[in-house]
Amino acid sequence: MKRREAIKTIGIAGAASLIVPKLLAKGVLEDDLMDLMKSDFGNNFKWGVATAAYQIEGAWNLDGKGPSVWDTFSHKPGKIKGNTNGDIACDFYHRYRDDISLIKQMNMNVFRFSISWSRIFPNGVGEVNQKGIDFYNNVINTCLEMGVEPWITLYHWDLPQALEDKGGWANREVLDWFNEYVSLCAVSFGDRVKNWMIFNEPAAFTGLGYMTGTHAPGKKSLGKYPKVVHHVILCQAEGGRRIRELVPGAMVGTTYSMSAIHPKEQTKKHIDAAKRMDSLLNRLFIEPALGLGYPSKDFSFLKGMEKQMQEGDDKKMIFDFDFHGVQNYFRIVATHSAFPPVLWANQVKPKNLVKDESELTDMQWEVYPEGIYEVIKQLAAYKGVKKIFVTENGAAFPDVVEGDKVHDVRRVQFFKDYLAQVLRAKNEGAPVEGYFVWSLMDNFEWAEGYHPRFGIVHVDYETQKRTIKDSGLWFKEFLK
Ligand code: GAL
Repeated sequence: MKRREAIKTIGIAGAASLIVPKLLAKGVLEDDLMDLMKSDFGNNFKWGVATAAYQIEGAWNLDGKGPSVWDTFSHKPGKIKGNTNGDIACDFYHRYRDDISLIKQMNMNVFRFSISWSRIFPNGVGEVNQKGIDFYNNVINTCLEMGVEPWITLYHWDLPQALEDKGGWANREVLDWFNEYVSLCAVSFGDRVKNWMIFNEPAAFTGLGYMTGTHAPGKKSLGKYPKVVHHVILCQAEGGRRIRELVPGAMVGTTYSMSAIHPKEQTKKHIDAAKRMDSLLNRLFIEPALGLGYPSKDFSFLKGMEKQMQEGDDKKMIFDFDFHGVQNYFRIVATHSAFPPVLWANQVKPKNLVKDESELTDMQWEVYPEGIYEVIKQLAAYKGVKKIFVTENGAAFPDVVEGDKVHDVRRVQFFKDYLAQVLRAKNEGAPVEGYFVWSLMDNFEWAEGYHPRFGIVHVDYETQKRTIKDSGLWFKEFLK
């Protein structure tokens, strides 16, 4: 009966995708999956959408904003697919009011967005750009007017170029720069914003930005990387302390990218490869904050981070976050490999793991719903992890645009399958208190440019027209 009611309310597009899910989630009965209801997650569960400044705002040099490393990087030919950049992106800078109203229309109650550091401090520190502060005040006030909770990410990858010119994250002075930035945000917005995330996915921006060089600032430096990691970990905790000190009643968190990592075969060399990857990609930023130190036991290269420690750092790295954000996109099947050296491990290409293309997203990532269950359990198992929010989860698929409709059947199915696994972890006792979709709307997908579309709202980049996709309409009904 419940199922029939759901079909009635969800409507035709939703009903089509209610027909037997392609991937039956492990451990979840078919009927439970079919009957997924908002109420299963509890009345206080937060439902939201996530975005990042550089990916949506545009207005890269308007009203006094200084350049960030992403402006510099994306303006260099050959760095971004199609040689595109975030100069205009979704023009959120001018369209925030309409975009926030879309969040409300989809019955979501949280908007997670990030602050562009160089919009409020054009030189990274020192002179404040009041127009930048005004912009974020407008965004926050519009959220509150519309009944949407603003959740701020302090750093989603766009370091001011002026600070990169002084060594960026590899320079220990970044602790002071970050402190100044976090303090300004706290005193400017903390009277209205109570939910804060210090970083977005530190493993991603340090690894891709300073080791593989595929993201800004495009450095490939085994020498700088340990310094960068150590300073980010110190800033993670210091940032937490600053917010707690300056924002009464704040909920302070930070976010991590996490993937289920499985060895290709149950043999020692592949198991060890998987452990090294797990240490580097899942554990590196969490464990020092929890007081467990660097996870160098399973990956001795991480001893290089320990060498960066100065007196007292072991304590300074620790902070008791009120919540941890987990962000999950794919699983990794790890294999022992001579390349890359140091890690001696590689990822089996997802296309070699799946039956056919239908199990891959547009990013060529494997659709693997059980993975989100595994990483939530992994995070929840740490003593000291109090509340968990899924601060990003989503997928890029090609959309079918038909007049005023945008059909994205696979994305609807993706959310149902992943949500079933989030619920499975929650029902087993993991303290999951919210789920935020990546992303509110299609946007600039870093080095991949504009081709992969992750939104539950479609963006026509020629006209900037927004259209809620079938997945957005599915959420609207589901969250009614
Ligand atoms: C995350 C990142 C987001 C977004 C998403 C989809 O790692 O935080 O900014 O790009 O991946 O790839």
